[in-house]
Amino acid sequence: MKNHQRFRTFAAGFTRLAQTHGADEGAMLEHGARLLAELISVDDWLPDEAARPHAKYYQQFLLHCDPLERFSVVSFVWGPGQRTPVHDHCTWGLVGVLRGSEQCRRFSRLEPGEPLHPGDSYRLDAGAVDLLSPREGDIHEVSNALTDKVSISIHVYGANIGAVSRHVFEPETGLEKPFVSGYSSPQLPNFWDRSEAVRGSLGR
Ligand code: FE2
Repeated sequence: MKNHQRFRTFAAGFTRLAQTHGADEGAMLEHGARLLAELISVDDWLPDEAARPHAKYYQQFLLHCDPLERFSVVSFVWGPGQRTPVHDHCTWGLVGVLRGSEQCRRFSRLEPGEPLHPGDSYRLDAGAVDLLSPREGDIHEVSNALTDKVSISIHVYGANIGAVSRHVFEPETGLEKPFVSGYSSPQLPNFWDRSEAVRGSLGR
């Protein structure tokens, strides 16, 4: 049995954070990174249906969306060698590696339509959290750093990310195209069935 309480505690903590600091991107990133680091510090809670790789495509399973769409939580499941196109987010983001390892490369651009400048490439191992802010430039490319294993990362964004109109880029030319990612499953995992514990308490 997975430890769904760990995710419920995270979702409740993030909801409280959105209530108090929802309009403050810096505070959401700073405090949110701590909550995400705690969530990914133990790999005992992610439902199997949100951890399944696809042979061809990296997967994006929605785990939770705030009803006011102030944030959403997604599990990214990377098969060996899978990678994103170069893309932006148009909102703040947090990336926490739960299993395996991710390789990230940032890109910057001086003018729209100009070629992108590749920045640092860096690796994030399990337990690491990366921050993304459109204010500082949020164009990047992400891939599974492992060539023989699945990697999984948990992402939090400042919107219902699957429904955000954003962009993919051709770095050599700077050509950008609109992009709406959607999600890989029409269903959400059920973290909220606490009935067993409640039934167990009835006999006491
Ligand atoms: Fe991204």
